[in-house]
Amino acid sequence: MRVEVERGAIRPLDPASEDEIDWVARGMRQTLIEVEGEAAGTALYTLGWLRDRVRFHLDAHQCTGQVWVAEAAPGVLLGHTIVRVETDDTGRRFGLFSTTYVAPAQRRGGWASQLLRQGEAWMRERGLPEAATWTSATNTPLIRLYARHGYAETADHVHEVTATRMVRLARPLA
Ligand SMILES: CC(C)(COP(=O)(O)OP(=O)(O)OC[C@H]1O[C@@H](n2cnc3c(N)ncnc32)[C@H](O)[C@@H]1OP(=O)(O)O)[C@@H](O)C(=O)NCCC(=O)NCCS
Repeated sequence: MRVEVERGAIRPLDPASEDEIDWVARGMRQTLIEVEGEAAGTALYTLGWLRDRVRFHLDAHQCTGQVWVAEAAPGVLLGHTIVRVETDDTGRRFGLFSTTYVAPAQRRGGWASQLLRQGEAWMRERGLPEAATWTSATNTPLIRLYARHGYAETADHVHEVTATRMVRLARPLA
């Protein structure tokens, strides 16, 4: 489903487009570099692994998920968010924002908020009672973005590889 917004559109990634899969994988890598620094960000995952991670979210046999992209004009991508259904330790299903990225030149234009709303709508359509994401405790832009949309910290842990403190941000979905 394509959703027209003020200056473009939010739509599902085209699963037949290797260029779009590559664009999202590169955004995931850029996110790691921004959050963890150049050395750790590039060492954590190869671009090939990140492309496979995008494909995993598009494969209904492996995952109930979706990759949403934002475009200013047809085919001109500027951001993405990846969502999937997860199950917690008690067996309860919830919606997870796996990752979100907006190209630097387009930031503070409301695109991440649009992607967040679209991800929540996708989760509501599946009857999920809660939306959540994990991020580094130092990622102020993302934490403020989610706070603005009513999310609160519900858990934390220290990342086993990077030793970064990670926080879980969540909100109930009406
Ligand atoms: C976090 C990110 C997705 C925000 O994208 P964006 O399109 O600029 O966000 P929006 O314009 O929709 O901002 C919505 C609100 O989020 C908050 N916010 C966004 N960027 C912020 C910043 N740099 N500092 C403080 N608050 C910020 C603000 O409350 C903002 O509302 P306002 O502009 O009216 O004050 C973007 O900075 C990004 O891609 N960062 C790198 C990738 C990343 O860290 N991803 C998350 C990994 S888990």
